[in-house]
Amino acid sequence: MVGLRRSAWVALVALYLSSRVLAQQPNDGEIERRVDGLLKQMTVEEKAGQLTQFTGVKPPILDQVKQGQVGSLLNVYGAEEANAAQRIAVEQSRLKIPLILGYDVIHGYRTIFPVPLASASSFDPALIEQSERVAAKEATAAGVKWVFAPMVDIARDPRWGRIVEGSGEDPYLGSIVAAARVRGFQGANIADPQSVVASTKHYVAYGAAEGGRDYNTVDISGQLLREVYLPPFYAAVQAGTGTLMSAFNDLNGVPATANHHTLTEILRDEWKFDGFVVSDYNAIKELIAHGVAGDGPEAAFKAIEAGVDMNMADGLYLSSIPQLVQSGKLPMSVLDEAVRRILRVKFRAGLFEHPYADPAREKTDILTAENLQASRRMAQESVVLLKNQNNLLPLGKSIKTLAVIGPMADDKATQLGSWAGQGQAKDAVTPLEGIRSQAAKAQIFFSEGVTLASLAPRVETSSITAAPAPSSATGAPGVSVTRGPTSIEDAVNAAKKADAVILFLGEPAGMTGEASSRATLDLPGKQQELLEAVAAVGKPLALVLESGRPLDIRWANHSDHVPAILQAWYLGTEAGNAIADILFGDVSPSARLPFSWPQFIGQIPVYYNHKSTGRPTSDDRWHTGYQYESMEPLFPFGYGLTYTSFKYSNLRVVTPNVSPVGTVRVTADVQNTGSRTGTEVVQLYVHDRVAPTSRPVRELKGFSRLTLAPGESKAVEFSVSVKDLGSYDPQMAWVVPAGTYDVWIAPNAIEGVQGTFEVGEK
Ligand code: NOJ
Repeated sequence: MVGLRRSAWVALVALYLSSRVLAQQPNDGEIERRVDGLLKQMTVEEKAGQLTQFTGVKPPILDQVKQGQVGSLLNVYGAEEANAAQRIAVEQSRLKIPLILGYDVIHGYRTIFPVPLASASSFDPALIEQSERVAAKEATAAGVKWVFAPMVDIARDPRWGRIVEGSGEDPYLGSIVAAARVRGFQGANIADPQSVVASTKHYVAYGAAEGGRDYNTVDISGQLLREVYLPPFYAAVQAGTGTLMSAFNDLNGVPATANHHTLTEILRDEWKFDGFVVSDYNAIKELIAHGVAGDGPEAAFKAIEAGVDMNMADGLYLSSIPQLVQSGKLPMSVLDEAVRRILRVKFRAGLFEHPYADPAREKTDILTAENLQASRRMAQESVVLLKNQNNLLPLGKSIKTLAVIGPMADDKATQLGSWAGQGQAKDAVTPLEGIRSQAAKAQIFFSEGVTLASLAPRVETSSITAAPAPSSATGAPGVSVTRGPTSIEDAVNAAKKADAVILFLGEPAGMTGEASSRATLDLPGKQQELLEAVAAVGKPLALVLESGRPLDIRWANHSDHVPAILQAWYLGTEAGNAIADILFGDVSPSARLPFSWPQFIGQIPVYYNHKSTGRPTSDDRWHTGYQYESMEPLFPFGYGLTYTSFKYSNLRVVTPNVSPVGTVRVTADVQNTGSRTGTEVVQLYVHDRVAPTSRPVRELKGFSRLTLAPGESKAVEFSVSVKDLGSYDPQMAWVVPAGTYDVWIAPNAIEGVQGTFEVGEK
């Protein structure tokens, strides 16, 4: 034991403490009894208070905590501040009920991980789970016990800025990732001092906003709701998510925040969810703007009746519920049920036994080398190689001169991406820094080409002119970086001096996320001009995109223009190191697109699991498609290259005839036909040929990451329960039709080796 490192001691102590905490946890029966006990003592005002969440710790709010008028606070973090607020609830309020403190930990607390869309591209649920474990550890060290994550909204429209927060377009991938994130946040037990309670959001169909406009109306069929938008929520509930957050949008005319069908009939009655639902910020009050409530009390009534237990921010439950109960409009039983759900989660989370954060952990558990290493690994696995003509990448580390160009290349804040918790720009490694440390001997010519400021949000509709170029500063002292003034001309000169060029373009992080819908997918500002000017120099050129959505890169993708393209999203604190790991080949890219990448905006929505229509696409005019333009994506869902190549062959259906309650087994051989070790994401797709409702042309039903040495070949086998291959009939009953199903084992949603199997009547 003598030789144990300090971090090992800290881990041992944490393990000991968490085992003590868990040993004191009440069981389910005791929890319900204690909830009953509290409910008996609570006044109606205290019950309404328990359902109320306010923001921050300004004095009037802390006073309300003391009066028992608050059940939760959001945006309170830092062990000291969190404990101070908690102390008021636990020591000074009449019933001493602890607060639950919530915060948006979207992709890390202080050590920032790749944005969720990026980590979803890894198709690596185990690594995603570990990443959220780190986030939970850091968040709890800062007194945060509840995170407003994971965001599991399916998005088929990249104009919607919040596509960056989710897992893309596919319900199967979305479900696997949702469950992994919940497991990571909550660990084996939410009472563990290093676990947070997850709040899976935004329930439901928020990502189906018309026109990709945030907060907009959603009008979709019951079948689409159940087959595409609900599955990730169901997976999160199955994985034990403690809470859910209701969405801002209206759904088929009924706002998600007042939707009895989704909040009660589906979530509670069908799925048996017994945690609580929190509204989104001010969303109860917004029922008035939606036009389904005439005033605050009516909004509060509709929300609680529908099944929203906690009221975020607007205070309408606190101000309206006592009167609603007194007048007999709101049955006490409905109020009690909402309070019960909240208290139940607080008991489960161990808050009654251990309400306080351990301030020592704030110093030992945040931004540690281990956490940074976890972030770097996640980042390495999140980069998608879109194009690599003549194996331009990886570059040799012995390269003598290199031009690093673009507004994203040395901007720290951009690397963190939108909504980066307590992430701090100063901690982030930029691509320029990462490249510099790995190609230590190379002379690097750096030019932004265009300034980041000139790409400010909404630049496409405003007349923002380029900010003045920064003075010709240099990089860190003693490092061989020549930094020129910012102009396209200067960038061209840098390119001319170098053996190869790496160009970093994309969107400023602020153009992505909430309220960041876009009406074009263009490279903002003058980046297209910069791209074309730099490409015209004719040097070996790799384009690295940093964005939270697919951009219009038709020009770059043209075979004569840019030989190599990487999608690098916003990769977090370790972004620059991970990008350099990929550029110089220490790591081979392995991520895959979690959405279909549109060619141009007029195609949207473009998604792989579309229906065939009665006139499937073909060259003939009288079929679905566009005149003069393709309806195919630029890159399909599941697409991504590696530094080697793989061959798929010999698909075998092990179970050619299978019962509807059986398991279908399919295998294919996958061989590494290149000269480097690589990791392939092998995907399983299925299509039911005849069903009561038209079926998607393909649906993802399995995937697995497979690492092969050069020349190595392996048989990959998938086993899928046949009942998971069914669909909803028009009456919304789940059916598994008998008949022929197509099956593919594939590198992406449009290629692969194909076979069929038959599902029998029983
Ligand atoms: C509004 C956002 O829609 C939601 O995702 C977030 O968790 C809350 N605000 C709280 O910050």
